[in-house]
Amino acid sequence: MCYNCSSDPSAEARSGSRPSRREVARLLMAGAGLSALAACTPAPAPEASGTTSAASGTASPAASATGTSAASGSASASNSAAASGSASPSATSSASTGAAKSPSASATPSTTAAAAPPSAASRLPKQYSLTAPSSPWVIVNKHRPLKPANYVPADLVQPRVALAVTGEASQLNRTTAAAAERMFAAAAAAGVTMTLASGYRSYATQTVTYNGWVSSQGRAAADTASARPGYSEHQTGWAFDIGDGGGACSFQPCFDEQPAAVWAKANAHRFGFVVRYPFMQHTITGYFYESWHLRYIGVEAAMDMRKRGIATLEQYFGLDAAPGYR
Ligand code: DAL
Ligand code: ZN
Repeated sequence: MCYNCSSDPSAEARSGSRPSRREVARLLMAGAGLSALAACTPAPAPEASGTTSAASGTASPAASATGTSAASGSASASNSAAASGSASPSATSSASTGAAKSPSASATPSTTAAAAPPSAASRLPKQYSLTAPSSPWVIVNKHRPLKPANYVPADLVQPRVALAVTGEASQLNRTTAAAAERMFAAAAAAGVTMTLASGYRSYATQTVTYNGWVSSQGRAAADTASARPGYSEHQTGWAFDIGDGGGACSFQPCFDEQPAAVWAKANAHRFGFVVRYPFMQHTITGYFYESWHLRYIGVEAAMDMRKRGIATLEQYFGLDAAPGYR
């Protein structure tokens, strides 16, 4: 079964679930012969061809911008377009190696290669690294592992919010913790119960989590819901999962209808957060919809992304889609 991001894959089986809109749609389209697990498995990820910059041996973890739809930040860019593997071999994005490309830098004429368009994020006055794990704009996905792989945030703290976990999972980096405190307080003021269900996860914990998924669901299904060790945003301290204090829908598709998720989807950007793995964006993000997984990128960027109607960080920062591991 898909969608579960908890550290205990068996929890989903215990709590039961119902098919998501997506699962139902896929089953209807594919016919009754498919298993539920197959319905949760994304379309085969178009692997990077040998023409991407990553394949060419550059040390940069990200490749070129994937076509104009993904690089333009258009919210209407279709999954298939962004994930079609139509990476322009020549249009390597500078965003892959550091801060998002500035509009002025992108205007430099070139006779040998078409310049990648500036990312939406590059228009913000303040820029941050896309690669340093201590940066609020670090992009970690299936093409961009954490460097170093064993990174541990230096400023982990436990936020003063309702906790559904103990130990390291109750911690966030200091900036994210402060923003979470503001957001949880606003949710409470609106009558919405929100809990911190899973925060920081070390490389070792992510290893246990991912291996649990593989053991119970198989590697292909695991990869749609759980990051491999060294590839999880949870290890940065910039991301966490929310619960609603109830638990029936925790880490389940139906969580998106719970007040905590509805409120977060409508308000998280005001506190600097985005829903990192939105509905139907798995061909870009690499993961099915996780209405519970929030990622801090700062108020300015989150508000800007919202205003522009951009769904994913990959699109906002002009990076290639990352549907599968290279
Ligand atoms: N569930 C998300 C993708 C993670 O494991 O980091
Ligand atoms: Zn998560």
